[in-house]
Amino acid sequence: MDPIRVGICGFGTVGSGTFRVLERNRADIAARVGRDVIVTHIGARRDNPRCSTGDTRVSRDLFEVVRDPDVDIVVELIGGCDTARSLVLEAIAAGKHVITANKALIAQHGNEIFAAASARGVSVAFEAAVGGGIPIIKAIREGLAANHIEWVAGIINGTGNYILSEMRERGRSFAAALAEAQALGYAEADPTFDVEGIDAAHKLAILASLAFGIPLQFDRIYCEGISGLSSEDIAYAEELGYRIKHLGICRRTPTGIELRVHPTLIPDDRLIANVNGVMNAILVRGDAVGPTLYYGPGAGSEPTASAVVADIVDVARTLTADPEHRVPHLAFQADRLSSEPVLPIESVRTSYYLRVTVLDQPGVLWRIAQILSDAGISIEALIQKEAPEDQDTATMILLTSVTEERRMIDAIRAIEAQDATRGPVRRIRMEKLDG
Ligand code: HSE
Repeated sequence: MDPIRVGICGFGTVGSGTFRVLERNRADIAARVGRDVIVTHIGARRDNPRCSTGDTRVSRDLFEVVRDPDVDIVVELIGGCDTARSLVLEAIAAGKHVITANKALIAQHGNEIFAAASARGVSVAFEAAVGGGIPIIKAIREGLAANHIEWVAGIINGTGNYILSEMRERGRSFAAALAEAQALGYAEADPTFDVEGIDAAHKLAILASLAFGIPLQFDRIYCEGISGLSSEDIAYAEELGYRIKHLGICRRTPTGIELRVHPTLIPDDRLIANVNGVMNAILVRGDAVGPTLYYGPGAGSEPTASAVVADIVDVARTLTADPEHRVPHLAFQADRLSSEPVLPIESVRTSYYLRVTVLDQPGVLWRIAQILSDAGISIEALIQKEAPEDQDTATMILLTSVTEERRMIDAIRAIEAQDATRGPVRRIRMEKLDG
């Protein structure tokens, strides 16, 4: 049988890793697919000094790969949205299957791309877009297909997890831990996407669609990063038996779907609380299976290539299958997607960590407890730090019961309006993740 011909657009960290893995494991891959898989064309805007392309054709113009009749599958690994979207849509229009690691592209343009692919009868695969080398897309889309999925919570940005781990383990400030992540090449020179939660929100949009059968809705995700976290809060959380992790959470509720990315206190005895450094982990709760946890490297050259090549194998195996017999892009058939609403953050229900700085006076704690009690919020744990001798303020840390976010917003306003309160109340959401 003729070999399957692959074109790779983008020859940076992931593109070169994909090329290397396809070359090195060629015999295994051919045995799995039933046909040889060869790279016939690479689109690289510049040379990659760390990887030889051998005799493979190389073009500076990425669109030459898409237009090459000797390419059956286009692998898009350039990142960004504009050129990537044009490349992918042109490849689909030309009847080629597409594989991408581009979470921003899928989160923001996936609905359009999947509609175009279905109309043309081709596949778009994106395993590497979430969790790097962890096969989480396949797990949710196929392995958990029996389940009504209740919630998903994941550490889905390795850079952010590295920074939080450094802050906790070494007492570093956010700025120092970020500088270290940049020096090690984990964080981008412009780390906004990683530290402000945007990268995690792209990935959560994809996970939520697969889990709940809803269209991709990146714009509706509540997104808060880790740049406002202090090592003080991480230490107080630890004292109370919690770790602070940056989580992407999606949850079904009777009134709609919660979609949120934010720092979260979780009990320190949960497996996911002990995922450190640049590793990713995703907890998925299905009604039949219960809680399941997927762990592994969320980035890196060959870990990400592992997911890209798995997609190549998957697509190659289905080349002769009728399009309607392929696994649907978003796990559910495109004409059976749900219109369940996404809830605004004010309607989310969770519990909270509050850090309040107050004048060290009699009755202050009583007034704060009264405000929370009037809002129907119970205090589950409390620590108060003695005021240092040269200061007249004290720090109170409170853990609350579950409440609706809008009630907590009102209660925080009332606490901040007290004469004895100094500065804003620090609020971090809290989840038990106990299944
Ligand atoms: N920037 C991402 C992270 C890696 O730090 O997890 C690729 O998704």
